[in-house]
Amino acid sequence: MKIIFFNTQNFEELAFKKNLMQFQNIQIDFCLERLGPKTAILSKGYDAVICFVNDQLDSECLRLLKSYNIKAIFLRSAGYNHVDVVAAKKLELPVYRVPAYSPEAVAEHAVGLLLCLNRKIHKAYLRIREMNFSLEGLVGSTLKNKKIGVVGVGQIGKAFATIMAGFGCEIYLYDVLPDEQFAKKIQGRYVSKSELLVECDIISIHCPLNAETLHLINLENIFTLKKGVVLVNTSRGPVIETTALIAGLKKLHIGGAALDVYEFESELFFQDHSAEVIQDELIARLMSFPNVLITAHQGFLTAEALDEISQVTLENIADFQKSVPAPNSANRIS
Ligand code: NAI
Repeated sequence: MKIIFFNTQNFEELAFKKNLMQFQNIQIDFCLERLGPKTAILSKGYDAVICFVNDQLDSECLRLLKSYNIKAIFLRSAGYNHVDVVAAKKLELPVYRVPAYSPEAVAEHAVGLLLCLNRKIHKAYLRIREMNFSLEGLVGSTLKNKKIGVVGVGQIGKAFATIMAGFGCEIYLYDVLPDEQFAKKIQGRYVSKSELLVECDIISIHCPLNAETLHLINLENIFTLKKGVVLVNTSRGPVIETTALIAGLKKLHIGGAALDVYEFESELFFQDHSAEVIQDELIARLMSFPNVLITAHQGFLTAEALDEISQVTLENIADFQKSVPAPNSANRIS
């Protein structure tokens, strides 16, 4: 089976090449281009494509892939909000994903961002490199006994909540499908979305992006959050309406934001733009706040997670080749 790998990063190519040795009859060509309607033509002559979160798998792209005889799509991500699943089903194009890869990797990154922002480590690091050993302006807050809200209590949300329970925080949970046993285990409790938003000192978002979670934090509710709240988002950018976040930060209502994802990240993230004039006014404004910390969607980026992503993707391909649904049939989303 001949497969084209879009949007390749070096670290992914290394992880896939290492695990590819265990699989026969899979040939992968790595390309730097992102997949979208304009680049779909690159898939001509291949049997399948491997894609990531910033590839654009809309109905037009899917239709083109089908016309080039692509037989399956393999996502090397858990989230699939970038795929028009309805169109894929209509075109009978199977789409596979990697539903879980080291959820702790993302949860630990969320905790890392929170600790860094809260204790102003990003500021202290730069100061000390300039031989400025002053502590002025570096006062943080103790996390013990703080109310931490977790929105989306799936694999990553649970890993995050478990770590924060270990810090001695009070854990508020919100999910459309509550897991009371889990809440009991970490001595947390499920509350309504509005209670979580109003009560918590820190809110960490771990739900998928869908019609219900798009702009979950928005211009209408941002000023109803607790004054001084710190927002952590490692899920998907559009869950937070950026203009609302900026308004909340400007009015000093929002105490800080730690973001691994950004609403309009697809034009920026995973690429070096350091020599360009950035045209995106919103990210420029966000980066101007001392209490905003941004990483470029690197929550998943651990050696263990990369190994799992490549292993499961290759198993998905092998399953598809054999037309055997096990063991990863749950990974098929269309
Ligand atoms: P999961 O499927 O295990 O958990 C998601 C949870 O969100 C489920 O419990 C679900 O019931 C809940 N949920 C769904 N709709 C909701 C709503 N409207 N309100 C509240 N909760 C809702 O997914 P997992 O593995 O925990 O991943 C969560 C998200 O994290 C992914 O969808 C993806 O967007 C993001 N992610 C980010 C990564 C990064 O590198 N920053 C890496 C991997 C995932």
